[in-house]
Amino acid sequence: MEKTLCIIKPDAVANGFVDKINEKITGSGLAIINSKKILISKEIAEKFYAEHSERPFFGELVDFMISGDAVVQILEGENAVKSYRALMGATNPDEADEGTLRAEFAESLSKNAVHGSDSADSAEREIEIMSDIF
Ligand code: RTP
Ligand code: MG
Repeated sequence: MEKTLCIIKPDAVANGFVDKINEKITGSGLAIINSKKILISKEIAEKFYAEHSERPFFGELVDFMISGDAVVQILEGENAVKSYRALMGATNPDEADEGTLRAEFAESLSKNAVHGSDSADSAEREIEIMSDIF
């Protein structure tokens, strides 16, 4: 069984969508094997999104991820990385298919409700970064 790292981002937590998002995750056949609500530190957010450190939106992305509580979760299931990315929908909610988490719960490209690992290698790296919090 494969694992992937999910974050319910501060916008979705503040908007009260945690239970609704988790119903959709479990309804898709993925198990939530760890879940913790935390205020992510700047250090962890910068490390987590290091691949984007040279991009113009990096500062805004990090500031948003530490702007309020987030829910960090490890999901497990068959093809968990791909199946959870499919459930999330496109990065920009305007382009996300109907029924996906971002179509339903995201506010904007920046406040897009959820994070999911984009490959098995990313999942391993991200679970390691977050391993201390569970
Ligand atoms: P995530 O890592 O959060 O799951 O999102 P993703 O894979 O769908 O998208 P990624 O390319 O990894 O980008 C990370 C987050 O940065 C914000 N972003 N802003 N202003 C922009 O052009 C821009 N592009 C990306 C998004 O909030 C995205 O989720
Ligand atoms: Mg990404």
